[in-house]
Amino acid sequence: MQIQNAMDAILDRRSVRQYKPDPISEEQYEAVMQAFDWAPTARNEQEIRAIVVRDGELLQAFAKDFEAYGAKEGRVFKNFYFSAPMFIFLVGPRDFPFTAIDAGITAENMAIAAQSVGLGSLIIGCLRLYLQDEASAEWRKRFGIRDDEMFTVGVALGTPTNHDQPKPKRKPGKITVIE
Ligand SMILES: Cc1cc2nc3c(=O)[nH]c(=O)nc-3n(C[C@H](O)[C@H](O)[C@H](O)COP(=O)(O)O)c2cc1C
Repeated sequence: MQIQNAMDAILDRRSVRQYKPDPISEEQYEAVMQAFDWAPTARNEQEIRAIVVRDGELLQAFAKDFEAYGAKEGRVFKNFYFSAPMFIFLVGPRDFPFTAIDAGITAENMAIAAQSVGLGSLIIGCLRLYLQDEASAEWRKRFGIRDDEMFTVGVALGTPTNHDQPKPKRKPGKITVIE
């Protein structure tokens, strides 16, 4: 397995919304999950849990309910995982003030690791409303998300198609230097 260095992986990573159906190799999977496991967390709580779903039919059924929920709420919730062969829900305790930040850091660690081992990824936040609504209670149970936990973000993983992903321009003026 070829490994891209950290700086190249950071600069080359793009959000991937088109995946090949190819399976993720065990080596690639292990690399991404090591990046999950070794992400830093506030107070070293290590409170973020990963729920890894590799069952495409299950993801499809969940996506259908998610879209129907969006339509009912007057929102456009499109397919969230873009038929990626794997989707990982990151969940953590509701009552810890750093859960969301830790999950964000963890997700980016995973996205960079994915890039470095030749995978594409997409960080997904749009499931939040649905997964905190009573309407998704059965799904939360099915995925093993406990009542004292909240969904934070998810990470879709897979082999990107050969299409170039759009590379958003960087906004200027975001850095203030005080000397
Ligand atoms: C916290 C977070 C939540 C996101 N949620 C979604 C989402 O729900 N759907 C989606 O298509 N992209 C989502 N994205 C991807 C962003 O749209 C993407 O990172 C941004 O457009 C910049 O593109 P790039 O990742 O290729 O640099 C999310 C990214 C982050 C960091």
